[in-house]
Amino acid sequence: MDLKVYLDDKKRIVEGFLSEYFKTPIQPSVLDDAMKYSIFAGGKRLRPVLCIAAYEACGGNGQDILPQAGALELIHTYSLIHDDLPAMDDDDLRRGKPTNHKVYGEAIAILAGDGLLTEAFHMFSHSSRVSVVALLAAIKELSSAAGLYGMVAGQAMDIISEGKVAQIDTLEFIHHNKTAALIRAALMIGGILAETDEQTLEALRRYGQGVGLAFQVVDDILDVTGTTEELGKPKGSDDSKHKMTYPALYGIERSRSIAADLVAAALDAIQPLGDKAFWLKEIANYLTKRTN
Ligand code: IPE
Ligand code: IPE
Ligand code: MG
Ligand code: MG
Ligand code: MG
Repeated sequence: MDLKVYLDDKKRIVEGFLSEYFKTPIQPSVLDDAMKYSIFAGGKRLRPVLCIAAYEACGGNGQDILPQAGALELIHTYSLIHDDLPAMDDDDLRRGKPTNHKVYGEAIAILAGDGLLTEAFHMFSHSSRVSVVALLAAIKELSSAAGLYGMVAGQAMDIISEGKVAQIDTLEFIHHNKTAALIRAALMIGGILAETDEQTLEALRRYGQGVGLAFQVVDDILDVTGTTEELGKPKGSDDSKHKMTYPALYGIERSRSIAADLVAAALDAIQPLGDKAFWLKEIANYLTKRTN
């Protein structure tokens, strides 16, 4: 099987779970529409796929953790809706469609994001196939990575750093927190739910850190070198907002080599897992080649 088939397959499984979960419409219908508009707009589903890949690398079957993998996608989707708001990045296009607030207005977009974030923890707490103790540890990991010790802190620093001269420590804070934290949590949660050993968990943590940071460095590069059509979001958004990015500090070539080094570090971290980490290796290698 090649990586594309693997990713498509896992994406289909996650999307099938999400469709089933949101089958019963909630009221008011505009909120239901707004949430579904963004969840089912496509997207790579990278965070749930990484969570499943980590769980399976630890000997589990991904079917058993679909509520937890799906919850990662709800949190990610909420973060995109809020990230695009006029008060934040003020973007008009996401996943190839007009952004949520462009269609539903700012108030409903904010609430759709709030709804997805909150529902994520409800979804995550479905425990039929995993131990409750592991689930609790995983919730701890997720809530800090998505919140004050991760994404929310990174997004705050991203916003207050607009227009400032790029500084390496600030830039690293932003990228570690706004993006790498949730990606790293996705890997850790896979390991935690599989009740794997400390050494494997540490390998997943280091892999998640490298891959998560590389993911945002590549996102910054694509904002400069990609096309709006391929990205499904506006090219040049960072430059127009004078964002603190890797290309702004280092230029494109150096940013590419930093991303490659981060991927190499991630691969090195999971070396001890051997063949079990096959798909994790494949995914890491794809990250520097991706075009969307
Ligand atoms: C975009 O994430 C936001 C970042 C954290 C860089 P993705 O590139 O994973 O977006 P989708 O889910 O595929 O749309
Ligand atoms: C967003 O970073 C990270 C999030 C937590 C949503 P960006 O602002 O660079 O993401 P894009 O480029 O709009 O997808
Ligand atoms: Mg942003
Ligand atoms: Mg943005
Ligand atoms: Mg970006």
